[in-house]
Amino acid sequence: MGVEAWMLVEDQEKQVVSDLDEKANKQQALLTSYQLGPFRLSHRIVHAPMTRCRCTGGVPQPATKLYYGQRASPGGLLVGEPAQVMPSESEYQDVPGIFSSEQVEAWKAVVKAVHDKGAIFFCQIWHSGRTSLSETESRILVQNFRAAARNARLAGFDGVEIHGAHGYLVGHELVRERDDTGIDTRIQQNACRDALEIVQAVADEIGADRVGFRFSPYTEYTDSEVCDQLELGVYLAEALNKLNILYCHFIESRSSTMEHDKNQTLEPFRNAFKGAVITAGGYTREEGNAAIASGRADLIAYGRLFLSNPDLPKRFELKAPLNKYDRGTFYSNNKIKGYTDYPTLEELELKS
Ligand SMILES: Cc1cc2nc3c(=O)[nH]c(=O)nc-3n(C[C@H](O)[C@H](O)[C@H](O)COP(=O)(O)O)c2cc1C
Repeated sequence: MGVEAWMLVEDQEKQVVSDLDEKANKQQALLTSYQLGPFRLSHRIVHAPMTRCRCTGGVPQPATKLYYGQRASPGGLLVGEPAQVMPSESEYQDVPGIFSSEQVEAWKAVVKAVHDKGAIFFCQIWHSGRTSLSETESRILVQNFRAAARNARLAGFDGVEIHGAHGYLVGHELVRERDDTGIDTRIQQNACRDALEIVQAVADEIGADRVGFRFSPYTEYTDSEVCDQLELGVYLAEALNKLNILYCHFIESRSSTMEHDKNQTLEPFRNAFKGAVITAGGYTREEGNAAIASGRADLIAYGRLFLSNPDLPKRFELKAPLNKYDRGTFYSNNKIKGYTDYPTLEELELKS
């Protein structure tokens, strides 16, 4: 094909894409309802899980309740910040847990504030350890995840999202296997074994239709010489599929801080996984509408835009300007600044 003909095709494709995007944005696909297993969502704008370091001593605070309550909307889905399943060292200070009765009691108030607004609330459950686990530690971890899921339900959460992104849970065994016995064909089973055992235990405890799994298929946690990331991701998606969990929540390498690699598409995982797909990573309103309209994902999770815009679904609906986020207050123990003091549109109007 000559250069000119190629350019023409490319231009036509661009035209088709932009027509579709325009239609998607006119119709605001993000604002359509969606049946997520047992949950009826009235829009597809999900609050992404974000560590914020405001839970002094690992216990949710009144400010935590205020923060999530501000971001809850009728029929909206919120995924809470990661809550530790057991006491363990974390690189972050003041992250919450969900293993003690004090924490469960404190979460109850937070969940109530979200439910009072008619929203659905999932707890992201997490173990901060990254290194490979011994057989005994692995057993204990599975039991702790199971207990955390039980606690989350006790606190009133509608379900849990297991944090398997960024090298947590997936990939541990890769290192151990390589060290002990060298590379073998069981590499994918080994890499996913802890994660899948945990998912199975949590699903047995609270029901698979209340379980989500977060996964970043292109995170650089695997040694690419040892294991192909795409193959590993598809293996995991298919295995999760067999466990019938509610959703898979992907983190794409699209955020503005990362170089977007066009080869890193969500498609193979979307095709492999039969449940609902949530995706996150630098989406704007327009891109979210286009992604839903094209079937790339069922729901879009927003992180930075949601933390800085408590009324994000409303703003998207009105195509209103957005508050800018302040990176300097992402992780801080200040319970107000950069946490609960981002104004809603209504508050801005009252001020002016
Ligand atoms: C302050 C901050 C903390 C985050 N902490 C977590 C976390 O603890 N667990 C997690 O799965 N993702 C975490 N993320 C990633 C977000 O869930 C989301 O995937 C990411 O911000 C991309 O979405 P965005 O471009 O809409 O912000 C965090 C993001 C931010 C901005």
